[in-house]
Amino acid sequence: MTDLPQSRHGNSQARPHAQRRPAGAARGDVRTRRGSRRFAPPERADAVEGSWDHVAEWYDSMVGEKGSDFHQSVIIPGVVKLLALKPGEAVLDIACGQGAVSNTLYRLGADVTGVDISPQLIEIARRRSPSEITYHVGDARDLKKLDAGPFDAIVSVMSAQNIDPVEPMFAECARLLKPGGRFFMVISHPAFRIPRQSGWLWDEQRSLQVRTVDRYLSPLRIPIDMRPFKRPSEKQTWTYHRPVEAYVTMMGAAGLWTNAMEGWTSHKRSDSGPRADAENHSRDEFPLFLAVRAVKVSAAEPRERRVGREARKPVAQDRRPPSGPRS
Ligand SMILES: C[S@@+](CC[C@H](N)C(=O)[O-])C[C@H]1O[C@@H](n2cnc3c(N)ncnc32)[C@H](O)[C@@H]1O
Repeated sequence: MTDLPQSRHGNSQARPHAQRRPAGAARGDVRTRRGSRRFAPPERADAVEGSWDHVAEWYDSMVGEKGSDFHQSVIIPGVVKLLALKPGEAVLDIACGQGAVSNTLYRLGADVTGVDISPQLIEIARRRSPSEITYHVGDARDLKKLDAGPFDAIVSVMSAQNIDPVEPMFAECARLLKPGGRFFMVISHPAFRIPRQSGWLWDEQRSLQVRTVDRYLSPLRIPIDMRPFKRPSEKQTWTYHRPVEAYVTMMGAAGLWTNAMEGWTSHKRSDSGPRADAENHSRDEFPLFLAVRAVKVSAAEPRERRVGREARKPVAQDRRPPSGPRS
């Protein structure tokens, strides 16, 4: 079992909030808990901006062994249905966190490999999973040293929105899939659930709860405070908003052609109160999650790759103070 060196993909522009490599931090060999050799990441575990290493404990308390409420009621059943796994298929769970999805795929008979950039989350995943699942610490955008694959399917659950730039991840997925292999991604729905840019309003005249969206087309880098009620809280992560078309175009440029999309709604219900019906109506109309399934085609044409590059527009930053993860 190898842990992969972190990649050169950082965020290209100097970022005021990005963690910098501490003076003297260097790459070195260390031993993992199970005794296998790994390369220590060249920088602090949270130095790659998308890493959730610094919130690993908090995230584990939310997600646990079987997944969060949303994983269990919405995401995992949806993944299982759209992925339509066959026993024995080789599956990569990319940015797998503490392995809640990997474990489900394993129970369905898949031969599972998981990768995440957070050493702490991978440590938890290894502790909680059967030894047949192989986990690696590594950057989803540079898996050249991954000693596994090609895969029948690759899943990325609630992680593409935490990775920027994300095109290299799609390129790696295309490279690691067998011809005809499936790529499957779930993200917060970019059209309706944009952290801090979307919300609910009550329309008195029509007695309706309406969804408001302040912006959609422009990419945005948004700080999320994972413990908004704890002051001071250093538990901040970043979400990258991109319109749906940017994802589909970038994936297409990598040779991952979209063949299914679904909007998944919340399973929660309001049972009481004067607005319960309106709230339930809104829940059923505005999806929380977007699921995208793609198939690997032969390498994309140069023209598609160019269009894919153009889909990446400059990312502005939401500069208001961080607030909680609600959108
Ligand atoms: C919201 S969590 C989702 C984890 C898991 N897929 C789940 O459904 O519980 C996002 C994950 O993406 C991981 N991540 C962020 N950037 C990454 C990268 N460049 N390579 C690999 N993993 C990354 C984080 O460490 C974190 O575990």
